[in-house]
Amino acid sequence: MMLAVKVHKRDAERTRRMLMELGALARGYAVKREGAFVFFPVMRPVEGFELIEASFERLERRPHSYREVVEVPDEVRPLLPSSFDIVGDIAIIELPEELMPYGRAIGEAILKAHRHIKAVFAKGSAVSGEYRVRELIHLAGERRTETTHRENGIKLRLDVARVYFSPRLATERMRVFRMAREGEVVFDMFAGVGPYSILLAKKAGTVFACDINPWAVRYLEENRKLNRVSNVIPILGDVRGIAGQLKADRVVMNLPKFAREFLREAITSTKKGGVVHYYGFSHEEYLFGEHERIILETAEELGRGVKILGRRKVRPYAPRQFNIAIDFMVL
Ligand SMILES: C[S@@+](CC[C@H](N)C(=O)[O-])C[C@H]1O[C@@H](n2cnc3c(N)ncnc32)[C@H](O)[C@@H]1O
Repeated sequence: MMLAVKVHKRDAERTRRMLMELGALARGYAVKREGAFVFFPVMRPVEGFELIEASFERLERRPHSYREVVEVPDEVRPLLPSSFDIVGDIAIIELPEELMPYGRAIGEAILKAHRHIKAVFAKGSAVSGEYRVRELIHLAGERRTETTHRENGIKLRLDVARVYFSPRLATERMRVFRMAREGEVVFDMFAGVGPYSILLAKKAGTVFACDINPWAVRYLEENRKLNRVSNVIPILGDVRGIAGQLKADRVVMNLPKFAREFLREAITSTKKGGVVHYYGFSHEEYLFGEHERIILETAEELGRGVKILGRRKVRPYAPRQFNIAIDFMVL
């Protein structure tokens, strides 16, 4: 039982403010309501109020960061990452080798600190292979890899173990969306589950969305329905097989590791005056130069001209390495 102030509900808000100003309100308890009355737990008697004894439920305080509650030896504590990716209700964290033995404790702490996270995985490898997926190691919570992610006003259903998806590109996708024009034809060469395609479909006339990973195309189809965008045309297969057969106003090349190998396909699929959004990886010492040289050379070989419209660092992806973007117009 605790000491409590009893007031009529019409005076509740005024009383709460007054008790806080006096520093008398006991924190960490749920305020109680009974009929027309409200009861505030207090730490000492407060003059001018009706005082009674009452019991209160404790409020569970959520930590601001999982690092506040995780139990790991002091010597590895400085290695705890300050952030992690959240895809839908799944957290994916990159742990150094020294922290792997404490993976379960770290996973449990993340679940404790973030109510909406239901499963935690550690990155088990770098993104690799044609499908650009990585191994994941289950740390805590549900053993589930399928989720629904929300970004830029769209919903994306996906399986983090079977397809590529990075929530860190949301701002970049919005940037491309802002550059898009009403009614244009878009060619998303490496569409994944559709974060560019579904978003661009809100402006475009038609979006051709290609991917070689059958799981990605399965989710792309689901996401088309989920977001009610009928103007996205999913294409399962190697983009080399279809490039050049269609002509687009806007081409998205989000395969940074191998983008330069697909420049021919991108340029031959772009209408005169159309725009290509090219992504690559670069060391900080040669951010754009090498990529631009290859873009210009490839265009020249194809008898086309190129005008660079913009270049930017999208995000760091390794020490001194960046994911870069170059927008260029094909003439
Ligand atoms: C880096 S992911 C990007 C996915 C998506 N654009 C996004 O932002 O989440 C690259 C995608 O390209 C696909 N891919 C790789 N090689 C391909 C090819 N030759 N033809 C078509 N798709 C390919 C992979 O399966 C993968 O889904």
